[in-house]
Amino acid sequence: MDETAEWLHFRAAIDGKIIEPTAAAAVAPSRSPTPMPKLPPEPKSSEITPPALHARRREFLRTGALYVASSAGVAVGLSQLSGLGSADPPRRPPPMAPPAPGAAAWKVERSRFQLDEPPTPYEDVTTYNNYYELGLSKSAPAEQAFHLAPRPWTLRVTGLVATPRTVDIDTLIRWFGLEERVYRMRCVEAWSMVIPWVGFSLAALIGRLAPLSSARYVAFTTLFDPEQLPNQNSRVLRWPYVEGLRLDEATHPLAFMALGLYGAPLPGQNGAPLRLVVPWKYGFKGIKSIVELAFTEHEPPSTWNRAAPDEYGFYANVNPKVDHPRWSQASERRIGELTRRPTLPFNGYAAEVAHLYRDMDLSRSF
Ligand code: MTE
Repeated sequence: MDETAEWLHFRAAIDGKIIEPTAAAAVAPSRSPTPMPKLPPEPKSSEITPPALHARRREFLRTGALYVASSAGVAVGLSQLSGLGSADPPRRPPPMAPPAPGAAAWKVERSRFQLDEPPTPYEDVTTYNNYYELGLSKSAPAEQAFHLAPRPWTLRVTGLVATPRTVDIDTLIRWFGLEERVYRMRCVEAWSMVIPWVGFSLAALIGRLAPLSSARYVAFTTLFDPEQLPNQNSRVLRWPYVEGLRLDEATHPLAFMALGLYGAPLPGQNGAPLRLVVPWKYGFKGIKSIVELAFTEHEPPSTWNRAAPDEYGFYANVNPKVDHPRWSQASERRIGELTRRPTLPFNGYAAEVAHLYRDMDLSRSF
């Protein structure tokens, strides 16, 4: 299927109607297919590491030369690495504004999803980001996030569902409440973090929306609004960003809709006000600032797969045995650590999710 046909197929599945070929030009996105960008080759350590931490590491290495062989010196160096002496990155979420009239209460329960690994510092989680609609560098999303307004915000529910509807984000919070889940996040670029997310179970949402029995996939779409997401004026990717999951993946208990992190609402750069978190998959599946959820019969397109199908699969399960064509996936750099660590199958969630892919060749369906 060429790209226009693929898009039309996706829209038709969502809208529940056949689009005649003559109408195709009118409904197809006006953007013409342009050469697609690729995520960078295995990033240099300066790129893998958040700039503030990189600067601190260089400082640490300088300090380490002075203090070498002295345990006191090592302690000083490590304390610098852990954040002391950094410029002025945000060290914790900003104080929460009082809820607007009609807004749902922000009350977060602890969940059973915890990790015995230290969370990545807030300043790194919120200043080292991939959000191409807000810029291509790791620091651009935090710098440009002021454009994005997380309220009012609604989620359109379309496609193969008993009742297509539009749900306000505060209604979602009232329906499901909020819980904290600490998950590993492994980017396809071979860096990783541990993030305490706030949100609710995607399975609970799907259960409430009641897809038809013909639905086999769920597709997600990011906001398309170049005023709020200025880099949508560029053609670096096809906008809006889209992603999808098979329905059994989407209803797995680990799949999560995040509305916050570190106890507070999501900053824009992390995908405010609503994003997907699928901890056993590469981070690019975690689509940000979602405005539409569509149930489909066929596999929906996904942005990075469409951009470079040989490099980014639809499934995108974290797999140390299947390398990216341009770099190894066997190990990763946990942001904040000095040495690489081995990458775990399914990002450490194999016991929970491997059965979903029992009958599949994961080197082909990567
Ligand atoms: N969602 C949208 N809409 N646009 C993007 O560019 N980047 C993806 C994913 N979701 C992206 C997106 C990639 S490549 C990664 S690794 C994660 O978001 C990064 O999430 P974080 O910035 O919160 O760490």
